[in-house]
Amino acid sequence: MKEVKDSRMLLVETSIYSFITGFGTELIDPSLSPLCKLLKIVGVLGITYYAYTWSKFDLLFKNLKLGVSTAYPIIKGKEKTEYSDIYRFTLPKGICLQDFLDKQEAIENSLGREVDIKYTYKTIQIEVYKENQKTHYDYEPTKISGDVPIIIGYSRRGELVSCDLSSGEPHVLIAGETGSGKSTTLRSIICNLILMSKVRLHLVDLKNGAELGLFRKCSNVDSFCRNMKQAKDLLMQLSIETDRRYDMFYEKDVKDIKDYNKKYKTKMLDYQILIIDEFADLHSDKECMSILKELARKSRACGIHLIISTQRPSATVIDGDIKANITNSLGLKTINGTNSSIVIDETGLEKLRGDGHGKFKRGGKIIEIQCPYLDVNRCRELIKQTYVEKDVQKSKQPTQEDLLNAIENM
Ligand SMILES: Nc1ncnc2c1ncn2[C@@H]1O[C@H](COP(=O)(O)OP(=O)(O)OP(=O)(O)O)[C@@H](O)[C@H]1O
Ligand SMILES: [Mg+2]
Repeated sequence: MKEVKDSRMLLVETSIYSFITGFGTELIDPSLSPLCKLLKIVGVLGITYYAYTWSKFDLLFKNLKLGVSTAYPIIKGKEKTEYSDIYRFTLPKGICLQDFLDKQEAIENSLGREVDIKYTYKTIQIEVYKENQKTHYDYEPTKISGDVPIIIGYSRRGELVSCDLSSGEPHVLIAGETGSGKSTTLRSIICNLILMSKVRLHLVDLKNGAELGLFRKCSNVDSFCRNMKQAKDLLMQLSIETDRRYDMFYEKDVKDIKDYNKKYKTKMLDYQILIIDEFADLHSDKECMSILKELARKSRACGIHLIISTQRPSATVIDGDIKANITNSLGLKTINGTNSSIVIDETGLEKLRGDGHGKFKRGGKIIEIQCPYLDVNRCRELIKQTYVEKDVQKSKQPTQEDLLNAIENM
């Protein structure tokens, strides 16, 4: 990142100096005329650029009434990054950050670029993103800290956006229209979990295993379901495991899995994630949905987390229970603004490019991101080393009968 200190003054001084030197030297020694012409041109261009930059914002602030009587923000400096230009302005008394945020849309409209607005002591910072944002990131295995580390994507500044489900928001909802990039995003999330963590995975892919089937032989994957019956058995199994863990916490006087693992280092409980590609397919079975909601509500403290995706972000599919309990939302391109509001509580997803371009809502804050791209062949190459011989469905998943017997014997 290159800092240009008080660029306004520096630019003006250099331009005037260049112009005067060119003009003066030509008078003294006409043989240097070509060099002098160049110096004069540099001077004129510098002054023009300054006038353009300054007048652009000056006019903008005046039009948007971002000032008090005749006092408007004054440009203090400019920084260039790979992704943006950052302008800093002194704030006139009586104007605050909220005044700028209220007019963010108008500022973006006027500059024709997306902006981020921040405040640091008496200074307002407007980051203007370049038009040619990086729109593609190839997935790379990435180590992230935390017990349940999830890779989400890259911010407009090119920084990795990730989250640890074991601290803070425990579950993730991924929603977007068909072809928006849900399965691709799940692929990079799962691949990274397999390569970089010890989290146990339960995968549900009701498109007959077409999307997530490549993971079924991985050592971290405990269950793989490709039909409703298997999915229902798995949900019941996780519900029983949740209750078993809570009973254990109660007996051992511990609050949650973190507490338990701190106290019983030799018998630590593993973290588990249930990942469902298209959970709307479970809607046809009321019992399945009710267990899923129950897990969303109570499994967090015992180390069982959910990542669920849907291409049908309607109020019926993402209902009140799901919304209340799954507060991390990755919204990809939606068909319309109404669907966008259901996913991230505001419109905007309908304007995204598709291809993994999304907005990630966490704790009320929304970050624009680009999800990494990982195709099936490369993914298979990366995870091949973790394949083990097993029949996941038979070895790991008890039948409904087994589960009912287990409940009776409890
Ligand atoms: N992060 C990404 N970067 C670049 N291209 C992507 C990305 N994600 C998805 N795509 C492109 O979009 C296509 C569709 O993606 P994907 O299958 O993940 O969509 P989907 O949301 O799961 O669709 P459906 O709802 O039909 O299952 C991919 O084949 C790929 O070409
Ligand atoms: Mg898909």
